[in-house]
Amino acid sequence: MNFFDESTSINIITNYIKKNTSILRENEIIKKVESAGEGNMNVVLRIKTNFKSFILKQSRSHVKKFPHIKAPLERIYAEYCFYNLVKKNFFSPKVLGFISEDYVLFLEDLKKCRDLNYIYDSRKIDNNKVNKLTLILHNVHKTRVHENYPTNITLRKLNYDHIFILPFLKDNGVQLNNIQDGLEELSMPFKENTNIIKRVNNAGKNYLDRGNTLLHGDYYPGSWMERNNNIFIIDPEFTFLGSKEFDLGVMTGHLILATGQTSYLKKICDNYPDKIDNIEVATYCAIEIIRRLIGYAQLPMKRSISEKSDLLKLAKELIIN
Ligand SMILES: Nc1ncnc2c1ncn2[C@@H]1O[C@H](COP(=O)(O)OP(=O)(O)OP(=O)(O)O)[C@@H](O)[C@H]1O
Ligand SMILES: [Mg+2]
Repeated sequence: MNFFDESTSINIITNYIKKNTSILRENEIIKKVESAGEGNMNVVLRIKTNFKSFILKQSRSHVKKFPHIKAPLERIYAEYCFYNLVKKNFFSPKVLGFISEDYVLFLEDLKKCRDLNYIYDSRKIDNNKVNKLTLILHNVHKTRVHENYPTNITLRKLNYDHIFILPFLKDNGVQLNNIQDGLEELSMPFKENTNIIKRVNNAGKNYLDRGNTLLHGDYYPGSWMERNNNIFIIDPEFTFLGSKEFDLGVMTGHLILATGQTSYLKKICDNYPDKIDNIEVATYCAIEIIRRLIGYAQLPMKRSISEKSDLLKLAKELIIN
């Protein structure tokens, strides 16, 4: 397998791309190879030529930033399948090439875009954007899929552990008080309350079940990109066929984490154009809030311990009611 990263020489990358794709024109020269942006899981490079730029994304057999966490290489194939299915909607980058034996995906560069992670700081988001994000998600969900769409089950099991199991275990290895003083204590009710744990276990079982709806699988501000008034969706590596309530729950969870406003739950459930199970959305939403505050996958989000306490109380109510 050929491996690429920021330090790979321009010569090697040029020869590889010329041999395996038709991305480069006759007189096109690669000028620069750089990191495409913040990311934890994969190698993501921006390749600049004298005519254009594009993205190279390569998966590894582990999480790039945390090499001790194993992750299946095939996740990049799932990502490729997702992009192919939704390409007619123009809300995701075009696929320029896929080299299966090297787990390399070439994508259009969404230039001058920024991701929406800034909403954790600004604590607000335009209604207009929320509506667009809801409609894009609906478009994903109504996409026709084939029986043989990747199950992505190995990556899904890894995610399952991080969403539904580890945050609710006492000795899970996450030193919460090192993240923020007092966080460990706030996490205790979620590790002791059997009623909550039972509901989380049920939701986790549903997450592992096979559904028939195309999901993005990681529908949160880091996967949302904007340019002027347009919204684009990237990084569908956690895609699978499941229940739409999962994507909707994750989305509302992050809007509530960012803004502190629970009204997003009703707003999004009301605005979503198809019939959904509101209770299931609320449960996934609550679990996402909890796992992002007391689990391993922390967000770029600064909140006081009392603000985190309020968010966790809110999530607890959502699960129990
Ligand atoms: N097609 C694209 N056009 C422009 N920028 C992109 C594109 N794809 C990725 N990026 C940039 O590279 C960053 C990392 O990409 P991506 O989120 O796909 O990687 P990842 O390793 O899967 O990240 P994560 O750890 O969040 O899962 C993005 O946040 C974005 O800034
Ligand atoms: Mg990713």
